[in-house]
Amino acid sequence: MNILLIAGSSRSAATSTILTRYIGQKLQEQGAAIEVIDLAELTLPIFTLDQPDLHPNARKLAEAAVKADGLVLATPEYHGSISGALKNALDYLQPAHVTGKAVLSVSSAGGPVGISSLQHLQTIIRNLHGINCAEWISIGYGSNAFGADGSPVDAGTRQRIHGAVNHFMELAEKLSGKAVSAS
Ligand SMILES: Cc1cc2nc3c(=O)[nH]c(=O)nc-3n(C[C@H](O)[C@H](O)[C@H](O)COP(=O)(O)O)c2cc1C
Repeated sequence: MNILLIAGSSRSAATSTILTRYIGQKLQEQGAAIEVIDLAELTLPIFTLDQPDLHPNARKLAEAAVKADGLVLATPEYHGSISGALKNALDYLQPAHVTGKAVLSVSSAGGPVGISSLQHLQTIIRNLHGINCAEWISIGYGSNAFGADGSPVDAGTRQRIHGAVNHFMELAEKLSGKAVSAS
């Protein structure tokens, strides 16, 4: 099973990216193969239909999405929504990249919760014909949430993340028809 994780911040050392990498670790521990696209590293030009040829970075994103059996999308909460970087990346995708695949939405907010971004993300996924995981992950007070080792400092937060990841993997297995350790 191949899982593509997209870290949707354009900021290096973003907490949403730390969260993405932590979830990636949990997926690997369950036997999944992962690919992480960090939008702070794989920068994409603003999407336009006027550009006939795909930028190489956009091609890399599209190829990773095609290969993926499921996706994890991570965003910082920006003005009650998702980051511009993640929205721009998702504009490069088409239903053919996402249709019928399990998608887990996760966010990191400066305030206590980041529910608006998660709702907006799930709306976009629905329009790309992906299957939203019934669980999602919102990390509050992002800048204090992780220790130096990249793990959430709070045991309850760790438990919630593990529960959501398990739920996501069950859904991805059902939808893809692949066992978690199969690629
Ligand atoms: C442009 C911008 C808008 C933001 N809007 C919100 C917001 O609406 N609600 C909130 O809780 N935090 C907001 N924040 C704070 C971020 O969510 C916070 O820094 C969080 O840790 C996620 O960002 P990171 O992944 O870059 O660390 C905003 C930050 C920026 C830079």
